[in-house]
Amino acid sequence: MKKTIIMAAAALALAACCSQPKFDGPTYLNPNAPVEERVEDALVRMTLEEKVGMTTAQSKFSSRGVPRLGIPEVWHTDGPHGIRPEVLWDEWDQAGWTNDSCTAFPALINLAATWDKEMSLLYGRSIGEEARYRKKDILLGPGINICRTPLNGRNFEYMGEDPYLAGQMVVPYVKGVQENGVAACVKHYAVNNQEFQRTQSNSVVDDRTLYEIYLPAFKAAVQEGNAWAIMGSYNLYNGQFNCHNKKLLVDILKGEWGFDGVVVSDWGGCRDDEEAVLNGLDIEMGTWTNGLTGAASDGYRNYHMADPYLEGLRSGKYTTKELDDKVRRILRTIFRTSMRPEPNYGRFVCPEHYQAARDISAAGVVLLKNDNNTLPLNVPEGGKILLVGENVVKKMVVGGGSSNLKTAYEVNPLEGIRNAYGDKAEVVWARGYVGDTSTSYNAVDTGQDLTDNRSPEVLIAEAVEAAKDADYVIFVGGLNKSAHQDNESTDRLQITLPYGQEKVIEALAEVAKNLVVVNISGSAVAMPWADKVGAIVQGWYGGTETGNALADVLTGKVNPSGRLPFSVPFCYEDGPIKTERQYPGIKEEGDEYWQTHYDEGVYVGYRWYDTKEIPVQFPFGHGLSYTTFEYSNAKAAKPSMTAAGTLKVSVDVANTGDRDGSEIVQLYIADPEASIDRPAKELKGFEKVFLKAGEKKTVTFEIDAENLSWFNAEKHEWTAEPGEFKALFARSAGDVQAEASFELK
Ligand code: GLC
Repeated sequence: MKKTIIMAAAALALAACCSQPKFDGPTYLNPNAPVEERVEDALVRMTLEEKVGMTTAQSKFSSRGVPRLGIPEVWHTDGPHGIRPEVLWDEWDQAGWTNDSCTAFPALINLAATWDKEMSLLYGRSIGEEARYRKKDILLGPGINICRTPLNGRNFEYMGEDPYLAGQMVVPYVKGVQENGVAACVKHYAVNNQEFQRTQSNSVVDDRTLYEIYLPAFKAAVQEGNAWAIMGSYNLYNGQFNCHNKKLLVDILKGEWGFDGVVVSDWGGCRDDEEAVLNGLDIEMGTWTNGLTGAASDGYRNYHMADPYLEGLRSGKYTTKELDDKVRRILRTIFRTSMRPEPNYGRFVCPEHYQAARDISAAGVVLLKNDNNTLPLNVPEGGKILLVGENVVKKMVVGGGSSNLKTAYEVNPLEGIRNAYGDKAEVVWARGYVGDTSTSYNAVDTGQDLTDNRSPEVLIAEAVEAAKDADYVIFVGGLNKSAHQDNESTDRLQITLPYGQEKVIEALAEVAKNLVVVNISGSAVAMPWADKVGAIVQGWYGGTETGNALADVLTGKVNPSGRLPFSVPFCYEDGPIKTERQYPGIKEEGDEYWQTHYDEGVYVGYRWYDTKEIPVQFPFGHGLSYTTFEYSNAKAAKPSMTAAGTLKVSVDVANTGDRDGSEIVQLYIADPEASIDRPAKELKGFEKVFLKAGEKKTVTFEIDAENLSWFNAEKHEWTAEPGEFKALFARSAGDVQAEASFELK
């Protein structure tokens, strides 16, 4: 027996040494050595200049490596929706490469609206493959800033008004990206909820609000998603710039949460030499010499963490303590990405990515209203569909700011509907209104000519005339990522539809047999015309396949399961922001920066409307299906739970309609005996469940004390108070279907 064992061991040893040729190079170059050993081995070989060099940009989208040691430079790329075209070394304009037309995936708000974690993983994997194929190491996304106001210009790039939804939806995206050896750089950390004066605005937020509303999604990305990078935001928080904010970066992110990746500044977000060194910034990216203004040849030497840092080290102002921490994090990122153990090469603009873009976008389209089963479209053979609106044809992957993309093609709604009907129906288009006729951004052009000099009256008359004999009229309007219309660096100026669209809708409502309104936007639009319209659909900037995705839902090929990731109020004034001080902020005598006071505290979105019992047009979480669902038998597995334990709560959901469909079962927790003011209920669980017609399933959630807690700022800890709690099973924040009570002992 003994002999056999010895022989087996020898065979294993022989096999092992043959399968892995002994690496005799330096440890840091050994792909199979533990990352931390590679980090330490590289660090000791680097000179002071090489270490400092790694902490700043060397071009628009790259930061230094160590050529002498064969450690590659780090390539960063926008953005959250697709891989930005190559830009010139020092310019924002595209470089004119012919191999960088990417897959444009749906805007992140569209992904959030799917409430589907599988879709988020598919998204992350797909965009991660494209980043890898383009040899990018850090993807500058996803963005997860909470929708505090529907006016924020970048809501379309984020994941809605609820921290739990954003947190649960960002984790799979981050994991999917990083499976490809690409770092997700979650942004913009933190309390960056407006574009107005974004580099000069100080967010004044109390700790409870910070921990309950504005941090949870970032915490989930770091602790559950294991994000390898975080981007500091342009604004200040409690008086310090966020690219070097001690409390956010050192105390919370790297301290409380144990983040071991890199903090990258927003472009030009670093504003101070000493704070940059001491407060947790690891890579300073930017545009100009001092980050924000002006340019000079090799301006990068003037960056706060370039020559000024080197001088500070040489003069003894700084030790290498902070520098070594920064460089360890940068090296760790490199050994996770470009120098990762297992080389893979990604994929780019492949059919699977186009299909993913289409499926994700369709899964996030929200059916808001559907009177008399206006939808799905039921067009008689040889019937006529009239499409009205500029967004029927306007290609919107181009524009919007840094998430701007160059794609090989973009299917607009006109093409999508025509693809769906072929010659079975006449599909015609009337402009209806003229909005934004620009077609290019950073030298990327859609190739369209949207010029139209006709008057609104003429345009409306044309549309009304064409509507008279149409079986369906589908108005496709909304916003368009141009200035003030869902756009980086400018906020919206109102939440009503721009460009006179309401007049067009009302004129069509007078004559249309079946009127469907599709609102394309990245944030809530007021809909005073809602009662005059048979069906309303919330569409999104759906990316390359947006027109096909919309057609899939309108025709019924896809049964809609999208749910609103934000509340749609009747009017802006109903919302929680009542003063200039809250938004856009105030700048009083002596203030160096604008001061935005988050006086509404935790009462953001449905937390406000719901708790204050203010009716809304459509609540957070709302969305209809082409089938119907019934909830029953809600129960808690036990009558009580302890703070250290968990409790299962469940509800039965049946598909009571005549076609298969998916329901997003939402779990909200109410704390009726709380000793402090708390929102009436808060989202603490959701599950997408597919049900065949007539099928019933039990959906179960496991609750723990964290789901019951509020943040006690005085004690700086989460607190779950003993007493009664309610598990509310809902179709939306405004539509609780069943509930189960239980007690926390
Ligand atoms: C922009 C954006 C940020 C983007 C970066 C690089 O200003 O705020 O989201 O990733 O700069 O383009």
